[in-house]
Amino acid sequence: MNDSERLVAAARAARDRAIATYSHFKVGAAVLTRTGTIHTGCNVENASYGLTMCAERVALFKALSEGDREFAAIAVVADTSSPTPPCGSCRQLLWEFCGDVPVILATPTRVVTECQMKDLLPLPFDGRLLTR
Ligand code: THU
Repeated sequence: MNDSERLVAAARAARDRAIATYSHFKVGAAVLTRTGTIHTGCNVENASYGLTMCAERVALFKALSEGDREFAAIAVVADTSSPTPPCGSCRQLLWEFCGDVPVILATPTRVVTECQMKDLLPLPFDGRLLTR
């Protein structure tokens, strides 16, 4: 398996662990570091609804909290006919910490498409603006 295949397989396995008690919409995500480590995440819903955390941010926060800072790609898996891209909040954080990496959008059975973070978040707000 190459890195992309490993990444999608890891996101699929993470999706199986999703806690989607209220929406029943299960999502898995995985981030690949530049050295080949994979960190996974699933969405975690709870009775407050509003404190739900997306799969992408779980994966990213796990990676960051383990000390990883350099990323090569992201995969997101949901069981939908159209691809499920990261929500706006996740895009903001993925852009800040991962930069313009490829984002692989897949289902449990196939890879639907691949896009770039810069296209998912055009005209981003990020730390460079704070220094001008
Ligand atoms: N969700 C994610 O985990 N990632 C996405 O990219 C889209 C939405 C979750 C949040 C919530 O648990 C459920 O999917 C429905 O919005």
